[in-house]
Amino acid sequence: MYLDSNGQADLHKSQDGHLSVGVPGAVAGIFSMYKNARLPFKKLIDPAIELAEKGFKITESEARLLNRFKKDFQRYNDAPVAFVKATPWQSGDLLVQPELAATLNLIRDKGAAGFYTGRTAKLIVAEMQRGGGIIRQQDLNRYQAIPRTPVQFAYHGYQVVSFPPPSSGGLLLAQMMGMIQPFNIDTMGFLSAKAVHIMTEAERRAFADRAEYMGDPDYFQVPDSLLLNKTYLKSRMAGFDPTKATPSTIVKAGQLYEHKETTHICVADKEGNLVSITTTLNGNFGSRVVVKGAGFLLNDEMDDFSAKPGVPNMFGAVGGIANAIEPGKRMLSSMCPTLVLKNNAPYMVVGTPGGTTIPTSVFQTIVDIIDYGKTPKEATAAPKFHHQWLPDTTMMEDGFAPGVTDSLKQMGYAIKTVNGIGRTEIILFDQQKMSKTGVKERAGMQAAADTRGDDSVDGY
Ligand code: DON
Repeated sequence: MYLDSNGQADLHKSQDGHLSVGVPGAVAGIFSMYKNARLPFKKLIDPAIELAEKGFKITESEARLLNRFKKDFQRYNDAPVAFVKATPWQSGDLLVQPELAATLNLIRDKGAAGFYTGRTAKLIVAEMQRGGGIIRQQDLNRYQAIPRTPVQFAYHGYQVVSFPPPSSGGLLLAQMMGMIQPFNIDTMGFLSAKAVHIMTEAERRAFADRAEYMGDPDYFQVPDSLLLNKTYLKSRMAGFDPTKATPSTIVKAGQLYEHKETTHICVADKEGNLVSITTTLNGNFGSRVVVKGAGFLLNDEMDDFSAKPGVPNMFGAVGGIANAIEPGKRMLSSMCPTLVLKNNAPYMVVGTPGGTTIPTSVFQTIVDIIDYGKTPKEATAAPKFHHQWLPDTTMMEDGFAPGVTDSLKQMGYAIKTVNGIGRTEIILFDQQKMSKTGVKERAGMQAAADTRGDDSVDGY
């Protein structure tokens, strides 16, 4: 689908414009979860309608992004879109989206049918035809959200519940945590070279497995239990050398720049109901295509497939057959919304955007809290690092002790300093504590929103 006449992958086609769009799934997903909701749908969607109708003041980083992508919006849309204005956007400007408000009204009144059939669907199909996309009414009719069994595993006495295929997130998390578990990382200094080395080697090996073994389980048999097998994970770390980085060229799958448009939300209530949602358009503003008359952006999720074996996608991820493009198939995600339980009671809700850095950020956040006793605020703020097998480079944020980067370089790591890995959100349930009268009581929750973005914490 994305090869040029010489058989080379043309990633521009999988990342921008009408051909990069996958069938939008968010509305179907929302309604399939709605059966567990506690509030009337109207009450949930009305604030969004009001924001679209009356507008909201944009932040500085939102203004910067809208200005940066102005040309793309103009290139892929032939009608005026809410995201383009004649003079540059500034923080505090009002972003009003009347067409989106009309679309949301239809969803409020008709449910998922207000999106996948009728006016909105017709507008999507017309938009596709106008711009050379291939999504038809039939594809919208056929789309279904599928409830799946989460990936579940234990880590140092906690139970972790995370996102299963077609995301790689939960499996990667389980593999990385499984690989480091025997090393008792808590005995090594927080963000010490020793600890970062072990965690990076686990990241490298897990991502090598991702490229070979992970894809939509409805199309490709993902060997999940083998990938999570304790003996297997131990064997994956057998070649680990505590003094040296393992070159990715000798790490194979086991035997058996800044593009961001993803959001994570953590919610918890006093009864212990937990929600961890990651939702994505993939790249910045997705395909940059706005459905004419319906006012919403379409994703460029097709780039999460492997366009050609071994050719990196926008996150540098490679893949093969497991994640090749097929009709009806879902692309391999890295999203990793996760819950952690302790003694079967709520302990943590966590997640982040960030493409392939998502599972590694969630991995490090859980380790920071469980093994190093960090608070949510500290764990969110802690500098993150990322290795995804290929390219054989460790991305590191600023903020590590100078000696740590030097030691890692000496071990053979190629290090690339980057800005802003993820935007990790956390809610942590304080464990029960003894009150003065000796009664066990729940101490409440702590929440942290990442200051790398405009993220915020709220309570009701
Ligand atoms: O599902 C995925 O893995 C990607 N579509 C996520 C993209 C992403 O997180 C971009 N934002 N930061």
